[in-house]
Amino acid sequence: MNPKDRLIVALDVDSEEKAVELVEKLKNDVRFFKVGFELFSSCGPSIIKRIKETDSDIFLDLKFHDIPNTVSKAAVSVARLGVYMFNVHGLGGYEMMKKTAEDVEEEAQRLGIEKPKVIAVTVLTSMDEDSLKKVGINESIKDEVLKLARMAKDAGLDGVVASSVEAKMIRKELGKEFLIITPGVRPAGTAAQDQKRVATPGSAIKDGASFIVVGRPITEAKDPAAAAREIIKEMGG
Ligand code: C5P
Repeated sequence: MNPKDRLIVALDVDSEEKAVELVEKLKNDVRFFKVGFELFSSCGPSIIKRIKETDSDIFLDLKFHDIPNTVSKAAVSVARLGVYMFNVHGLGGYEMMKKTAEDVEEEAQRLGIEKPKVIAVTVLTSMDEDSLKKVGINESIKDEVLKLARMAKDAGLDGVVASSVEAKMIRKELGKEFLIITPGVRPAGTAAQDQKRVATPGSAIKDGASFIVVGRPITEAKDPAAAAREIIKEMGG
């Protein structure tokens, strides 16, 4: 896999104008862009169309978590937008994930498009064992992540979002094909900002990440395209 095809740039901005400006600066070096709550809530689905017009691919990061019927219907709508990948929350459970995977597959076939990859969020990196206990989960983070990742795979999902700390274990347990999307990546020698468990682009890939998600180190750089190229080079190394 080309290192360029492993980088997802997080477009954490609040307007279509800012997002499109970044995509225009980056599109020659970057294939994937992540659209999250902030941008989607500000612009709606039209932002997906705008980004797709630049021949870029999209990871829609809305972490759906609701009853199976509601999530699978939202997921089918997302499939119709033509995103490359989107996610649901693993805590929504096996039935929710299974119905979503099945309905998205059926819709993609009906439309004659490639099925979007369906990814599960396991434990948010902002949670520690104490905050897990407070919501009634007494397992260790490691066990909980692995349990939800296994459940996602059994339900027919394509992969999980996981920190590089967990990536190694998931790769070992769930095999080569299972996708692992790793945020919290910082180029060697740059600030971690609010990320708690950071990895470098090279170490994240070495630990088993299929894709890395990088936001501010690229979007806030003086020259975002040069920052992206440097990260792609680090991944290759
Ligand atoms: O700017 P930065 O590189 O920290 O951005 C990382 C992106 O990945 C953000 O959009 C953040 O919401 C997302 N993310 C994360 N940790 C998770 C899941 C998603 O940092 N566990």
